[in-house]
Amino acid sequence: MTRSLPLGSGVVEILRGISFAVQRHEFVGLMGPSGSGKSTLLGVIAGLDRPSSGHVLVDGTDITTMPESRLAAVRNAKIGMVFQAYNLIPTLSAQENVEVPLYAGQHPGSPAARAREMLELVGLGHRAAHRPNQLSGGEQQRVAIARALATNPAIVIADEPTGNLDAQNGENILDLMAALRERMGSTFLIATHDTHVARRAQRILTIVDGLLADGSSPPPPPLAPGP
Ligand SMILES: Nc1ncnc2c1ncn2[C@@H]1O[C@H](COP(=O)(O)OP(=O)(O)O)[C@@H](O)[C@H]1O
Ligand SMILES: [Mg+2]
Repeated sequence: MTRSLPLGSGVVEILRGISFAVQRHEFVGLMGPSGSGKSTLLGVIAGLDRPSSGHVLVDGTDITTMPESRLAAVRNAKIGMVFQAYNLIPTLSAQENVEVPLYAGQHPGSPAARAREMLELVGLGHRAAHRPNQLSGGEQQRVAIARALATNPAIVIADEPTGNLDAQNGENILDLMAALRERMGSTFLIATHDTHVARRAQRILTIVDGLLADGSSPPPPPLAPGP
């Protein structure tokens, strides 16, 4: 998969040929220097941006050629996102923030009960009525994780989720994601500078200058025997 953007009279290739697969229930870290293309890659995988060539399959569905109207529904059903800056809606309570994706799509059960359950799971049942500005950074990120997982997505994509947190709170967030993966069977792809991620991830993909470094990708499947 590639992603280029026009720059002046030419184009700049940000992702220059990337291919990998994440297995269900995997915990994969995406590491690489600033400007290497991590956020661009996550945006393409999440369907927020389109590749210039190639395809992205999420849970078997090719999202690359899908019209925006259908893509929004697929994103809601299959993808949970966590951002460095939490990206909660400031006027809504923690409870309401977690309910948002549940009301936006078709999900079993009551959004209120599910949101409540998710807040309990991330240890914030007692903060359900608080708005984001009444919560610490670590607590806001816990709400964002509860929101991302509430829909039971095929994959949770996190872009520098510990980037705005101090070391201890960052560790706590990584512990939480690892614990939720165990408990809920979720799949995580986490872009980060945080070397602590390496301890929890089952696999680290290293991106440098828009390309995965050697050893990041699994070896290609053997060629089928000829006739
Ligand atoms: N919208 C854009 N227009 C032009 N260049 C961009 C745009 N978005 C990202 N880039 C460039 O693409 C490269 C990769 O950026 P990014 O994916 O944000 O890297 P990372 O998340 O690893 O820090 C950088 O050189 C950045 O300047
Ligand atoms: Mg980035």
